[in-house]
Amino acid sequence: MAERILVVGCNGLLGQKVVQELSAHFGNKNVLCVSIEPRALFSTNVPYRQMDITKIDSVHGVIQQFKPTVVVNTAAYTNVDKAEIEKDLCWEINVTGVENLAAAAKEAGALLYHISTDYVFSGENGPYREEDKPDPRGFYAKSKWAAEIAIRKMGVSYFIARTSTLFGTGENVRPNFVLWLISALKKNQEVTIVDDQTGNPTLADNLAEALRVAIEKRAAGVYHLTGREAIDRYSFAHRIAKIFGLNALLIKRGKTSHLKQLAPRPMNAAFIVEKAEKELGVHLMSVDEALLKLKQQLG
Ligand SMILES: NC(=O)c1ccc[n+]([C@@H]2O[C@H](COP(=O)([O-])OP(=O)(O)OC[C@H]3O[C@@H](n4cnc5c(N)ncnc54)[C@H](OP(=O)(O)O)[C@@H]3O)[C@@H](O)[C@H]2O)c1
Repeated sequence: MAERILVVGCNGLLGQKVVQELSAHFGNKNVLCVSIEPRALFSTNVPYRQMDITKIDSVHGVIQQFKPTVVVNTAAYTNVDKAEIEKDLCWEINVTGVENLAAAAKEAGALLYHISTDYVFSGENGPYREEDKPDPRGFYAKSKWAAEIAIRKMGVSYFIARTSTLFGTGENVRPNFVLWLISALKKNQEVTIVDDQTGNPTLADNLAEALRVAIEKRAAGVYHLTGREAIDRYSFAHRIAKIFGLNALLIKRGKTSHLKQLAPRPMNAAFIVEKAEKELGVHLMSVDEALLKLKQQLG
């Protein structure tokens, strides 16, 4: 059976990469992309429709008409600090929105591929495997974990990909750590980067590719899908400077406690990605591999 894939939140960084990857493999006419804005904010030949996941009628309308076999949800409220203030909006998008998608996907007999986060863990006892017990701390983190619970409870067939520290290029997307750092170092600006937060940086293109493989295999369950290497932010910044030929002397060492961020961060949210590599057979990139690919794309 030919897949019909609905990509939700396609205007975001990951959404754009997922649309690119899936349309290249399944064909433009078998993919429909939707996001909250009236039009696509990136160049694509895939048909676009406006859809707000918090509006049940909007979700049911699109799903009943398109009749997807797979729904990929990359939409989310992703501003971790602002979520501490805009709690209702964050919950509406990250939990109610996901419940709406799960209900409509279940009714259509479609598989739901949903993106979650390393923030579901406290970061006190990483590295984490899929079966480790989540213990989210900030409001964004709690909303993402609540969505995972809701998906499991609702009886829809699901694949949950937990990812971390996404980076890459996109059109009209929120700034990400790597692009911000490259731009700051190019302008000769001194930057302070924390050395006490560890995670697995993930090139959005690599995650999109892994999701495509998971869809082809009709994989289900929870998977840690990130770059294969865990690294602290300060060392990551040094790798970026090295690969992009920038001045690493501008990078100063800092501590998370000095940043006074509104939301707590998991300090060691490193992931073990063995399950994805073994069961899906996907190639998850090392930090240097991912940065080199980005360098190539930036030209
Ligand atoms: N970025 C990271 O480092 C990171 C790390 C771990 C996990 N994740 C997860 O990975 C996924 C993708 O992240 P990303 O960085 O690609 O996010 P992003 O760039 O912020 O994209 C999310 C997209 O969802 C859209 N959206 C928001 N509310 C919506 C609604 N009600 N209906 C439809 N679309 C809506 C957003 O539109 P607006 O921009 O107009 O709001 C945006 O285009 C998310 O689930 C996120 O939680 C991200």
